[in-house]
Amino acid sequence: MRKITIAIDGYSSTGKSTVAKQLADYLGYVYVDSGAMYRAVTLYSMQNGIISKENFDVEKLKESLPSIHLKFIKEEAWNKAHIFLNGKDVENEIRNLDVSEFVSPIATIHEVRVKLVAQQQQLGLEKGVVMDGRDIGTVVFPNAELKIFMNASAPERAQRRYKELVERGETVSFNDVLKNIEDRDHIDTTREDSPLRKADGAIEIDNSDMNLDDQFHTVLQLAKDRI
Ligand code: C5P
Repeated sequence: MRKITIAIDGYSSTGKSTVAKQLADYLGYVYVDSGAMYRAVTLYSMQNGIISKENFDVEKLKESLPSIHLKFIKEEAWNKAHIFLNGKDVENEIRNLDVSEFVSPIATIHEVRVKLVAQQQQLGLEKGVVMDGRDIGTVVFPNAELKIFMNASAPERAQRRYKELVERGETVSFNDVLKNIEDRDHIDTTREDSPLRKADGAIEIDNSDMNLDDQFHTVLQLAKDRI
């Protein structure tokens, strides 16, 4: 069976990573969570005085990029994969609402994108890869055999993200989660460099009313049709 590249893009909290991990496990592919990479750079920036509510030192961020090393380590299944920032497991830390607040401004910086896109392309060099993000079908893998653009209504997405955060023990309000999703969507779609948009040839899936099983089988069938 030939191996293909599967690019899954879409708005925040549309369930991209859930379906991407299911697909990668089922097909025996590599999964790359590109959002986790932007989040890890953001965490580094928060820890090193580059970004806070009062300040965003873009020059320091650019100078720091060579000191930021990212790596994914998988255990058994892809939903147990963790991202490491300079040798430290930061999988949990990068998911909190503080990181979510600063990640989209960090992701507007061209030099950050150049660094991460190069690493993403390297990770997908051998095909047999499922990658999710905002610019995978448009910039990272414009020739991907399967491109998906996921969507769902903003309140539905906020409800899902809120549930996820609460289950992980975070104290957050639904309104803060909804506002963060709307703010990120705004920045991600209007930024100059690689704005989120549906890639040429992408298949749009609105999963507002789909359960996880339906969603998985819909995408799996699209993949099988191309293998
Ligand atoms: O996928 P996730 O919601 O974790 O991504 C966090 C943020 O990282 C996005 O809101 C976006 O600003 C940025 N991102 C990006 N390009 C990608 C993946 C994520 O700009 N390919």
